[in-house]
Amino acid sequence: MKTVGLTYDLKTDYEFKENDPPDANAEFDHPSTINVIASAIKSQGFKVKKIGNVDLLMENLDKLDVDIVFNISEGLIGRNRESQVPILLEMRDIPFVGADALSLGVSLDKIMAKKIFMAEGIPTPKFFEVKPGDSLINMDHLKFPLIVKPRFEGSSKGLSEASRVSNPEELKKQVEHIVVTYKQPALVEEFIRGEEFTVALIGNDPVEVMPIVQIKIEGKLNLDDKFYTFGHIKSDALEYVCPDAINEKLKKRIEDLALKTYNAIECRDFGRVDFRVDEKGNVYVLEINPLPSLSSEDVFMVIAKRIGISYDEIIGRILKTAIKRYNFAE
Ligand SMILES: Nc1ncnc2c1ncn2[C@@H]1O[C@H](COP(=O)(O)OP(=O)(O)OP(=O)(O)O)[C@@H](O)[C@H]1O
Ligand SMILES: [Mg+2]
Repeated sequence: MKTVGLTYDLKTDYEFKENDPPDANAEFDHPSTINVIASAIKSQGFKVKKIGNVDLLMENLDKLDVDIVFNISEGLIGRNRESQVPILLEMRDIPFVGADALSLGVSLDKIMAKKIFMAEGIPTPKFFEVKPGDSLINMDHLKFPLIVKPRFEGSSKGLSEASRVSNPEELKKQVEHIVVTYKQPALVEEFIRGEEFTVALIGNDPVEVMPIVQIKIEGKLNLDDKFYTFGHIKSDALEYVCPDAINEKLKKRIEDLALKTYNAIECRDFGRVDFRVDEKGNVYVLEINPLPSLSSEDVFMVIAKRIGISYDEIIGRILKTAIKRYNFAE
């Protein structure tokens, strides 16, 4: 029986520092998520060894005694934090599930990712970057409303109702808030009014595009000015649904772009691409998550239900895809 190591960061391990925003540990997982994933892996016929975060991995790197690592660690510091576990594993030639350090690094940094999207002809909202101390004068090519996000965060960190700005005063205030609170440049994008979709992909050769998931906020699919904020995570205002009626042309466009984005970033085993579609039907890629949440309350669970398999089986599918990529027997 093969042994699967598990690397992760726990919300409960995070020690809040003075001046930390309330969402400082938002990317990390609940202990219950780790247990649910561990039990899913066991149900698929593997042994599980919990390794923990990057510090524990580093301590134990030469005595892991695992066949493959299932990595869901988000890392602690800096824009390369998601790459830290993968790079240590790569250094010792230890197989692991999911994208490598480079793909994780360029996607966590939303501006790097957008530059790749543009080079590949993948539509993404127009944007500019504001670094600490920059003036906001060269933004004539963008139209209000705009959205202000931290350059390298996930899990809706830094997003609140105030993130959508309608005039230069609101913009300036929100940029300052992001730069000071999250200690990084702000990404300012055109706000796309309309609908929101997210598409998961599993596999390598071939890559399977999973059923499209749509984001419903306060019971509405036409989101108009609404968007996903950190506050929504703990409320029940936000729902993931698999739309029954989706225009064939739009469906094909979203699926094609999901695959193109996955390939552009050179994702492996699994990933998730986030989209907004404006009122005219133009599709925009917001970002790609090569390490999306696998929580049983998140998108992958909705997909498992839709395709008629269990949560355990969807975790098994991701793991077996990675094992196949390394070409060793299960
Ligand atoms: N240009 C935009 N136009 C409209 N809404 C946007 C735009 N950019 C972001 N949003 C809203 O903000 C949410 C979070 O943005 P984004 O997906 O870029 O960041 P994230 O925090 O990395 O996401 P995740 O929670 O998927 O990790 C989106 O799901 C969407 O609702
Ligand atoms: Mg997102």
